[in-house]
Amino acid sequence: MTAPLRIALAGLGTVGAGVIRLLEANGELIAARAGRPLQVVAVCARDRSKDRGIDLSPYAWEDDMTALAARDDVDAVVELVGGSDGPALALARNALNGGKQLVTANKAMIAHHGMELAGIAEAKGVALKYEAAVAGGIPVIKGIGEGAAANRIERIFGILNGTCNYILSEMEGSGADFADVLKDAQELGYAEADPTFDVEGVDAAHKLAILAALSFGTAVDFGAVDISGITMIRAADIAQADALGHVIRLVGIAEPQEQEGERRLFQRVAPVLVAKDHPLAAVDGPTNAVVAEGNFVGRLLFQGAGAGDGPTASAVVADLIDIARGTVSAPFSLPVSALQKVAPADPGSRISRAYMRFTVADRPGVLAEITAAMRDAGVSIESMIQHGHPEEDGDVLVAIVSHRGPESAVTAALATLEGSDSLSEPPLVMRVIG
Ligand SMILES: NC(=O)c1ccc[n+]([C@@H]2O[C@H](COP(=O)([O-])OP(=O)(O)OC[C@H]3O[C@@H](n4cnc5c(N)ncnc54)[C@H](OP(=O)(O)O)[C@@H]3O)[C@@H](O)[C@H]2O)c1
Repeated sequence: MTAPLRIALAGLGTVGAGVIRLLEANGELIAARAGRPLQVVAVCARDRSKDRGIDLSPYAWEDDMTALAARDDVDAVVELVGGSDGPALALARNALNGGKQLVTANKAMIAHHGMELAGIAEAKGVALKYEAAVAGGIPVIKGIGEGAAANRIERIFGILNGTCNYILSEMEGSGADFADVLKDAQELGYAEADPTFDVEGVDAAHKLAILAALSFGTAVDFGAVDISGITMIRAADIAQADALGHVIRLVGIAEPQEQEGERRLFQRVAPVLVAKDHPLAAVDGPTNAVVAEGNFVGRLLFQGAGAGDGPTASAVVADLIDIARGTVSAPFSLPVSALQKVAPADPGSRISRAYMRFTVADRPGVLAEITAAMRDAGVSIESMIQHGHPEEDGDVLVAIVSHRGPESAVTAALATLEGSDSLSEPPLVMRVIG
């Protein structure tokens, strides 16, 4: 057997400790498959004295993360610290610039700095691998970047955040409101103490931007993702969706669109109503699922655990095995110079049904005002339900589902209603899929 792949590990939290446990448990099998052992030589975290349930005595300890990248006895650096900038980014830059292979699970860093890091990796002839950054344990980067590499990918969409999916499926099962389910999710460890990135859709958007670049050969453009989270969703919306034969899921979708004679890219993360017979409707709890549509392979569905120590470590170590085998390809499947910079697509011409929920004052004329705005904008109403019982504050919920039509019409109708004193809060709009 040839020389081991010598690894430095930055971050010994959920994922980092998982990587150590996985390498200990499956070391022989991994060495046989990689053609050589994977050997951790040095580690780093903030607190050396913390009990992590793993024996760190075989490894050198560095107090300063960036020192890992400078070590002569290291071939590959694994960054499992997190954060788009700061020490994680400094380590990534140092490692790649120093000619080390880099593996990371850090979607925020790849979404914001993936192009720069891929450029350095390319210039230095080393790997930048990030399988664990998108959908945790699911091999979707490999699936799309290698397994489906012969295809033109026409569309990708999926459930990319386990915390939101857990909250939405719990709301569905219990009839409870968002805030109560979030609290339970935090107690059970399914949501962070600060859940903002998850529930506001930012984490899913990081992953979507990465998947879009890989799938469509475009430059990563996180700033162009249209993002809405799930904080506005109420138990009443879930009940209404159920009555319509749908469930609510936070879905990321990206697809190239021809507009004004050029190729543009549509990227959106938002809660949507998913028909109960659609494959994404069956994705419950903290599970992730990604659908990729290729022009020869057809529709591929990747599904599995999107987070957690075991699944995420599985993806990190798969990247290390690739590096140990010497099979290293371009981080985004194409050389950085070939990744197209495309403008964001205008979503106005997208055709869909829309669910709109209004919180309105309980008085005559309000429904007429809303339906007039719809009529004037050319939105055709399929159904309208007014909840019989006013909310505690006397407001009433009105849910409208439109027939299929352009998004621009719904946007125009809502613009007419903006500022109306009949509405107690801004309306919630969700697209209906399936
Ligand atoms: N958790 C998941 O299921 C999951 C799934 C997919 C991707 N990811 C990604 O994986 C990465 C790690 O996530 P995680 O959940 O393992 O995070 P975590 O449990 O919070 O662990 C972070 C680790 O980084 C160390 N650290 C933080 N700042 C440091 C610094 N300045 N210098 C040295 N070490 C520092 C911490 O040290 P101490 O332990 O001493 O505090 C800790 O060991 C993130 O990018 C995350 O987005 C996580």
